[in-house]
Amino acid sequence: MAPSSARSLQRISLWRLLGAGAWAGAVLAGPAQAADFDSASMLELADTSGCSSCHQIEPGAKGPDGRPALGPAWRSVSAKYAGQAGAEKKLTSLVRSGTTPFDRHWKGKEVSPPMPVNAKAINEPDAKLLVQWILSLDAKK
Ligand code: HEC
Repeated sequence: MAPSSARSLQRISLWRLLGAGAWAGAVLAGPAQAADFDSASMLELADTSGCSSCHQIEPGAKGPDGRPALGPAWRSVSAKYAGQAGAEKKLTSLVRSGTTPFDRHWKGKEVSPPMPVNAKAINEPDAKLLVQWILSLDAKK
């Protein structure tokens, strides 16, 4: 199978998963959760901002080049920061400033360089929106 068709298949099943997750989130966690996000446009924003070249939603999902994703899966990010006060603000700023070798948050879990500076790739309101969505991914807990 060509990499591009493998990728679109993966995207389709991701959308299904996200759709199911949003529905379960709405039922289990009340209206102000994942259901507020349009997952398709969030994925679009992640694509156009370059995030998708390093991040997938599900742990273990392969990156666009068929190799293991460079960055942590966003559902894992959501689980890691679940319930932490200030997570949204901290992550919004981290997404734009990148991480450094001296301040890794996923050490031992990811074989990859730190996250680069994304300040040119994404503006603050969009970064905040993506982070809100990322943090909502684990709302089923
Ligand atoms: C070149 C690869 C790359 C790109 C592009 C990238 N990231 Fe990352 N991202 C990483 C890596 C690697 C980490 C883990 C950083 C660490 O170990 O501290 C990470 C971590 C994160 C985290 C968790 C931060 C933490 O410290 O726990 C979030 C949220 C995130 N990225 C969102 C984004 C968003 C949104 C974009 C697009 C604007 C993006 N990333 C673009 C590689 C990337």
